[in-house]
Amino acid sequence: MGTGNTTKPTERGKAPMGDTLSLVTICLDQECSSQLKHFIDSTSLIQLRAELTQYLEGENDTSLADQLKDLRPDICLIDFDPSREQATRTAERVHEDFAETAIFATSANSQPELIIKAMRCGCSEYLVKPLDLDQLVEALARVGGRKEKDKREQATGQLLALLGAKGGSGVTTLAIHLAAILAQLHQRKTLLVDLHSDLGDASLYLGLKKHAYHFFDLADNTHRLDSELLQGFLAHHPSGLEVLTAPEGFDVPRHVSGEDIAHTLSFLRGRYEYVVVDCHPGLDDQNVAVIDQADQLYLVAQPEIPALRNVARYIDQLSRFQYPPDKIRVVINRHSKKSPINDAQIEKAIRKSIHWRVPNQYYEVMKTVNSGDPLSLTSGSEFMRSLTIWAEGLAGKPPAAAKRKEGKGLMGLFDRG
Ligand SMILES: Nc1ncnc2c1ncn2[C@@H]1O[C@H](COP(=O)(O)OP(=O)(O)OP(=O)(O)O)[C@@H](O)[C@H]1O
Ligand SMILES: [Mg+2]
Repeated sequence: MGTGNTTKPTERGKAPMGDTLSLVTICLDQECSSQLKHFIDSTSLIQLRAELTQYLEGENDTSLADQLKDLRPDICLIDFDPSREQATRTAERVHEDFAETAIFATSANSQPELIIKAMRCGCSEYLVKPLDLDQLVEALARVGGRKEKDKREQATGQLLALLGAKGGSGVTTLAIHLAAILAQLHQRKTLLVDLHSDLGDASLYLGLKKHAYHFFDLADNTHRLDSELLQGFLAHHPSGLEVLTAPEGFDVPRHVSGEDIAHTLSFLRGRYEYVVVDCHPGLDDQNVAVIDQADQLYLVAQPEIPALRNVARYIDQLSRFQYPPDKIRVVINRHSKKSPINDAQIEKAIRKSIHWRVPNQYYEVMKTVNSGDPLSLTSGSEFMRSLTIWAEGLAGKPPAAAKRKEGKGLMGLFDRG
């Protein structure tokens, strides 16, 4: 499931370092370009990512968008003098497709109507040639300030990643229940992401209808990611849980890099209190992007030798990433006191304590899968009790209103009719 991306994340993900803003120029004249480079050499305020020499060629020209998608600059400085018409079209397209990129116009012409026109097509600054460095610094400060504000405004929802030590460990089962409990019982704004590029089960387990767009489609559109775009991708579960599904069947998703995933998740965390990710197996760059951002990684394993051996391997490999020790937690699913391998043996084998034990309740869990409704489990279910206490550890006690509604114990909420 490697993404085969040829761009090294360190290259694309490097800037902005600290307060450094990244810049791409389009059709900038020689004189301005050398003035700018001279300035850049003397400051750490900006970093020049690329000097592009062509405007947008026509409506169907994708080459500029492709380059900007790769470069992801904070600022695009467009010279309006070679062709005001083409520069205007280019600015409009950049404004439309790259909402996070600030557009600066530069020109020798300072007629007010031209300035207004440039502003109308999306330019936030109009720098008259030769560049006035004080004016440039002020413009940069405005972009930097906006960026800081955006960062602050990004609520830091918790990202919970579940990864199976082996196929069939119960990742999807646990992820859908945990997420549905957080959404309904705790009334938290919760999103479930199915990170399988093929054969994802989450939407099936949740009884959701085939959905037109999936998570990888969204991650493939990071350059125009906003709340409005997101709405079209979401599937809605009656519990209040929102879901970004996996592609149906073997639909091959367009190429999505680890960096696209990271960018998408960071956007999603800003909009949800909990983002629960049903990861595919392995440590490819997509999963590593999820784990990097995750507040918790739950390694899910059944109490059997091959799975436990894989848990030890995962822990060993992940120890190289120098995550906080408590970030990676082991969940033993289908736990049973009658299991031939006891807890002490498990902990010895994985050299880590077990964080959570989910009881083996095949009949109860199958009922959920068959009904397509994680909230269909009866109040007496040990499985559900385990999951609700796990969720309480994350979200605290559920709100009193939710408790009152049930009438017959906490689990009553999950009896539907
Ligand atoms: N606690 C449990 N008790 C009993 N059966 C369980 C439990 N958890 C999961 N199962 C069953 O185990 C099987 C595999 O579960 P699930 O599909 O959730 O695993 P997975 O890790 O998502 O698998 P995959 O690798 O295919 O994505 C299912 O039949 C499910 O009903
Ligand atoms: Mg699964």
